[in-house]
Amino acid sequence: DFGIDLVARPPIVTVLGHVDHGKTTLVDRIRSSNVVDGEAGGITQHIAAYQVGHNGQKVTFVDTPGHAAFGEMRARGANVTDMVVLVVAADDGVMPQTVECISHAKAAGVPIVVAMNKCDLPDINEQRILTELSQHGILPSEWGGDVEVVRVSALQGTGIDDLLETLLLTAELQEFRTVDSIPADGVCLEGFMDEGRGPLAWALVRRGTLRIGDNICCGTSFGRVRAMYDDAGREIQEAGPSTPVKIAGLDQVPSAGSRFLVMDDIEQAREVAELR
Ligand code: GTP
Ligand code: MG
Ligand code: NA
Repeated sequence: DFGIDLVARPPIVTVLGHVDHGKTTLVDRIRSSNVVDGEAGGITQHIAAYQVGHNGQKVTFVDTPGHAAFGEMRARGANVTDMVVLVVAADDGVMPQTVECISHAKAAGVPIVVAMNKCDLPDINEQRILTELSQHGILPSEWGGDVEVVRVSALQGTGIDDLLETLLLTAELQEFRTVDSIPADGVCLEGFMDEGRGPLAWALVRRGTLRIGDNICCGTSFGRVRAMYDDAGREIQEAGPSTPVKIAGLDQVPSAGSRFLVMDDIEQAREVAELR
């Protein structure tokens, strides 16, 4: 006993899959939001994290791009996650980036739940999808394997509760715990420049609690946390484990995938950033 209490933390679920198979529509549906209509060309180009509540439990979702060009972001998403939702459009089946995503999930060693999406479309051949999945090492539970395949329509909202229940059950079995009473660390999913607020890090807290005034280094950037925003853009004062948060106060735009850490003081934060 080191005198540190472990607390339950929300599971982090990364949504992976081939381009246009419906990842953002699914996350939008779960959040009751509409990110997808604002995307240029209907193509996701960034990784993004959101937290939702379901039956009193929180889940953090990481949406990733499916386009072939964004393999690095899929790998990054798979690396921060506890579980993967593999979205496979039922009218298209297992495609090249589906296969890539399966290998990311397997490399990360995390449980996979398949969301068989677009089940509202006519002439869906479910057996074909299950066959293709098993050919790539994903054996559906209905065929005696260990992967749940949940039928959903992100567009119409069917099967979503089923999917969330399956994810929460999987999370329960894993018992995700962490400490929230220590200085925070986490990972920067995306860095960007905001006209009004300067450099921002869209980050995910892994351990501990991040607070306004904390001195952090984030990759090669550093600064004092001046303001924090949740996934809906609301100002927040602190962010605990598994919380997606936008952090203002860094000296420059941090690079995606870099780790952030709370330091004792701003000089230490500067030194560590310069060493990286
Ligand atoms: P990328 O992030 O660019 O890889 O795409 P995505 O996987 O996020 O797919 P997106 O949510 O952008 O959806 C692609 C298209 O599929 C859009 O036109 C959606 O309206 C459509 N779509 C998504 N889910 C469903 C569904 O359940 N049924 C049907 N019929 N269409 C869907
Ligand atoms: Mg998308
Ligand atoms: Na898309």
